[in-house]
Amino acid sequence: MNIKDLYINFFVSKGHVEIPSAPIVPENDPSVLFNTAGMQPLIPYLMGEIHPSGNRLCDAQKCVRLTDLEEVGDKTHHTFFEMLGNWSLGNYFKKESITYSYEFLTNVLKLPKERLAITVFKGDEEIPKDEESAECWKKMGIKEEKIAYLGREDNFWAAGETGPCGTDTEIFYWRSEEEVPTTFDPTDDRWVEIWNNVFMEYNRKSDYTIELLPKKNVDTGMGLERIVAVVEGVNDNYTSSIWIDIIKKIEEITELPYEGNEKGMRIIADHIRTSVFIAADPAQIVPSNTDQGYILRRLIRRAIRYAKKLNIDINSNWDKIIAKAIIAKYETYYPELKQQQERILNILYEEKNKFNRTLERGLKEFEKVARKQTEIDKITAFHLYDTYGFPIELTTELAMERNMKVDEKGFQEKMKEHQEKSRTASAGKFKGGLAGNSEIETKYHTATHLLNAALKIVLGDDTHQRGSNITEERMRFDFNCDHKLTDEEKRQVEDLVNQFIADDLPVKKEEMTKQNALEIGAEAMFIEKYPEVLNVYFIGEISKEICGGPHVKSTKELGHFKIKKEEASSAGVRRIKAVLED
Ligand code: SER
Repeated sequence: MNIKDLYINFFVSKGHVEIPSAPIVPENDPSVLFNTAGMQPLIPYLMGEIHPSGNRLCDAQKCVRLTDLEEVGDKTHHTFFEMLGNWSLGNYFKKESITYSYEFLTNVLKLPKERLAITVFKGDEEIPKDEESAECWKKMGIKEEKIAYLGREDNFWAAGETGPCGTDTEIFYWRSEEEVPTTFDPTDDRWVEIWNNVFMEYNRKSDYTIELLPKKNVDTGMGLERIVAVVEGVNDNYTSSIWIDIIKKIEEITELPYEGNEKGMRIIADHIRTSVFIAADPAQIVPSNTDQGYILRRLIRRAIRYAKKLNIDINSNWDKIIAKAIIAKYETYYPELKQQQERILNILYEEKNKFNRTLERGLKEFEKVARKQTEIDKITAFHLYDTYGFPIELTTELAMERNMKVDEKGFQEKMKEHQEKSRTASAGKFKGGLAGNSEIETKYHTATHLLNAALKIVLGDDTHQRGSNITEERMRFDFNCDHKLTDEEKRQVEDLVNQFIADDLPVKKEEMTKQNALEIGAEAMFIEKYPEVLNVYFIGEISKEICGGPHVKSTKELGHFKIKKEEASSAGVRRIKAVLED
């Protein structure tokens, strides 16, 4: 049986209920991009809410941590990992938690207790020394010399600035061929941390003081990739059973051995795996220039660059082969991967094509500058970003390989300037509305609202406008969608719009505050760019959109709507060109 199953079975046998992993993108917490620990989705329950599954829980949580993104390529770092966790929500505390951990490690995984060492909180002016944990460990048979007492930076854990937190006791394992030292030296990196048991009894408030939580909780976390490597006795995580099949696939694709090519292969394996999981998340992330979408873009683009270094033909289906191997490996635990397979493969494919078109020229441009200059100035960094799609981190990485610096601060300033400019341009457009428009442009304008409404019905409520452009000859409309529309979908959309037209729906304008417009669920493209008081256009019952107008009075005026073309606009965004005929 594998370690994940052994872990869950063990804690279930100790009265814990297995809960499913929450999505990687937190559902109710916009302050973080991804879940970085198993406890994150459980914060309300650690704060005192009653959990529907009881007060003893366990799971394997999908996590993404980005602080070490640039470190990926060595033996131990990953951007995605599974965290095994068990929780007591006001049920058991230190003694049981330590006993369970010890029993699991030594009885189930059969790790020799001589190879274990422990840290506990040494105490400070606010929180006393954790004698209780130390005593428990000694009762388990851990020698005093194998226990180190450390301060806040090592033995206090909190997910963020505020919220549930507490002292912790960490379990280390001697991962080396050499003889186990009699005394534990936590600064010797042959001792690797394998498990963290946090005793969450405090809440840190916004003024940084701590108060006791209503209940004393336990939150433990053990990184699956690390414990598997430890148990399998490998000191390169990527040679453990978690990764070996994926690495083998990359060896086949590149026709190169892992040995000597480790860095690139690890980066490809890690970044594609994380991209697969992000792309499958219910949050429906697509590569973009902000937030989670930007991370997804960075990961895919970094994987592509290393694939190129390993002489992979980027235009081949290497990404698909690797992604499919990853999906096959994880689908029994995470069925969403198989369900979203199409979407995942499309995202990789489109982002690859997009980047591939400019990568070669961008690299040449970089080389050209690198030959002449000792630093990548802000103009070049921005040019590489804007014209060749190089995330700034890629430029920095390329520069580091040549011992060059990048004016990152200057780059950020240029980015700001650029955003400012496009904001002003679009606000200006909004203010002026489309007032000077011809009759036909006004009709097209109303037709975009109908099309927007029809797309939502056919493709789902999450479909939104991403852009539009109107001329006397046609309308162009961009919207988020992860696939090429089928003929059937196009027909349905066209029929719906024509139905709305035939229904002779009235078009009505109402002035309201931005807040009000949001509350009634009016469709908005760039809410932050709109003035405080604005117009919402209602078309019968089928559409309400924030808009500057102008519009026709009734949909009947539009004539016949016909889709001329449906094509990709950018990754995750489709474009429809349509006309109105008499
Ligand atoms: N929250 C702690 C950690 O992430 C234990 O689960 O290390």
